Amino acid sequence: MYRTHTCGELRIADINKEITLAGWIQRIRDFGGMSFIDLRDRYGITQLVVDENTDKTIVEQLEELGREFVIQAKGLVRERSSKNTKIPTGEIEIALTEIKVLSPSEVPPFTIQDDTDGGDDLRMKYRYLDLRRNVVRKNLVLRSKMAHAVRTYLNAQDFIETETPVLIKSTPEGARDFVVPSRMNPGEFYALPQSPQTFKQLLMVAGFDRYYQIVKCFRDEDLRADRQPEFTQIDCEMSFVDQKDVLNMFEGLTKYMFKETLNVDVDDFPWMPYSEAIEKYGSDKPDTRFEMLINNITDLVKGNNFVVFDSAEYVGAICAKGCADYSRKQLDGLTKWVQRPQIGAKGLVYVKCNKDGSFKSSVDKFYSQDDLKVWAEKVDAKAGDLILVMSGEKDHIQGAIGELRLEMGNQLGLRDKNIFKPLWVVDFPLLEWDEESQRFHAMHHPFTSPKVEDIKLMDTEPGKVRANAYDLVINGVEIGGGSVRIFDSELQAKMFKLLGFTKEEAQAQFGFLMNAFKYGAPPHAGIAFGFDRLVSLFAGLDTIRDVIAFPKNNAGRDIMIDSPSVIAEAQLEELNLKLDLKEKE
Ligand code: AMO
Repeated sequence: MYRTHTCGELRIADINKEITLAGWIQRIRDFGGMSFIDLRDRYGITQLVVDENTDKTIVEQLEELGREFVIQAKGLVRERSSKNTKIPTGEIEIALTEIKVLSPSEVPPFTIQDDTDGGDDLRMKYRYLDLRRNVVRKNLVLRSKMAHAVRTYLNAQDFIETETPVLIKSTPEGARDFVVPSRMNPGEFYALPQSPQTFKQLLMVAGFDRYYQIVKCFRDEDLRADRQPEFTQIDCEMSFVDQKDVLNMFEGLTKYMFKETLNVDVDDFPWMPYSEAIEKYGSDKPDTRFEMLINNITDLVKGNNFVVFDSAEYVGAICAKGCADYSRKQLDGLTKWVQRPQIGAKGLVYVKCNKDGSFKSSVDKFYSQDDLKVWAEKVDAKAGDLILVMSGEKDHIQGAIGELRLEMGNQLGLRDKNIFKPLWVVDFPLLEWDEESQRFHAMHHPFTSPKVEDIKLMDTEPGKVRANAYDLVINGVEIGGGSVRIFDSELQAKMFKLLGFTKEEAQAQFGFLMNAFKYGAPPHAGIAFGFDRLVSLFAGLDTIRDVIAFPKNNAGRDIMIDSPSVIAEAQLEELNLKLDLKEKE
């Protein structure tokens, strides 16, 4: 037996027990006649002691030990004379009777403790060492618990967990595909799934009724803090349901996960139409932990010879409570912030609502105190508040002022990571216009059903058609998205036409699905949660990298295994790729 106990297990009640532990040496402290070894495993740290009563051979052995050696240690549990109240094993220590080195270690490239000295790149290169650290591992433990909760809940609801293939052909989720060359079919490629979307719909045609899968998805898109090229979805589909049924089921799942893993009770999730989210929050993923709603003040500000506002399609304002005393420097800072390319605004107008009831603004030349009072009333600003105003093209400025709202939320400490505000954003547009390709794209995906009452607009005003599509948003993060599906091949054909597919193209790409629909497709709907995003939200982290055991860096590289990498000539040849590459050169 390698060990009788773990390094996090022993307590005062175990005193005088002969035990064996195994683990990694966190550190060795040598005080002349006395030495302490902190032995670590995933469960905790136990202190081993060598003193004047310890066998001489062990004292000699100490010389050859170092950090991160894996050892087996036998000894007697005894009470510590000076106790450490910070760790659960802090009341005891082990008087060593035997030590065996199971595996030596080179000096690790960074210290393996909570506040490590290792930089990002170094820790990524030695990710297996980084994962030894408590602060990193605990996120993966939370992930495991959450996956367990998902399975417990959905299994109890009669969902069937089904695996779908990874070598498929292109799925239409809007990002680029990763492709895999087929050796047996020269010149042809598989694509890795961006999601199991079409397969889960086929499972509904197959009568599975309730499907789920915790599944890897692959998207070749630019990376951000909340995006990885391979990520995990909790993917689900249900038959004979409408939108409300799906939202209820997955609101239930979300609440269950909060309770099981964080012991947090969350309120019922409000439903917010997409148009309201854009209007009031400037985003389809509103952070509803704080108010500071966006007000459309376009009509109030026109006609005062201020060309910037007079020529603007839209003028929006937010009220930052208690910020009237912002200094020149702070206001300049905010202006610079909105002028960064990511936000792309020309400038920022402010109105300070002074404590004495007067107003001081950056546009005093154009607007009287009475004018500014009207603005203040509109945005519900009181004495001591600061009004921030942006103007320009409507879509752009709504988004930009939405970003400013979040920044002010940060500055004012209104985005508390321990508060969770989930909501459903519903009634997304079915289509969005793409300037580049000069055609409509599906906002969610081509299988999303339009709202029945909007079907008539498909021929006349396609841009106005709303979809039975929904997102789960928590604290400004898009956690999940889904829709009620089209299950009628004629409507599906119409949708493909709207999206610019010829009949032949639609048949070539999605014929398998449209054919399946000819054999009795049940009404169905579904959703997929971004599992990595959900875990990182639960863990209070800012990036999903920290909840993935072996993530890629921002350039899409795994610097530990050095991937992607070139492959051997012979391999290229076998895959029929060599010729093509040569031809290109
Ligand atoms: P969607 O494309 O909205 O829907 O994806 C669902 C959820 O997956 C997460 N997500 C990501 N997480 C990390 N890295 C990425 N690159 C990434 N891309 C997406 C998000 C998102 O909300 N098949 C549909 C679902 C359906 O209709 O049932 C789909 O994939 O949290």
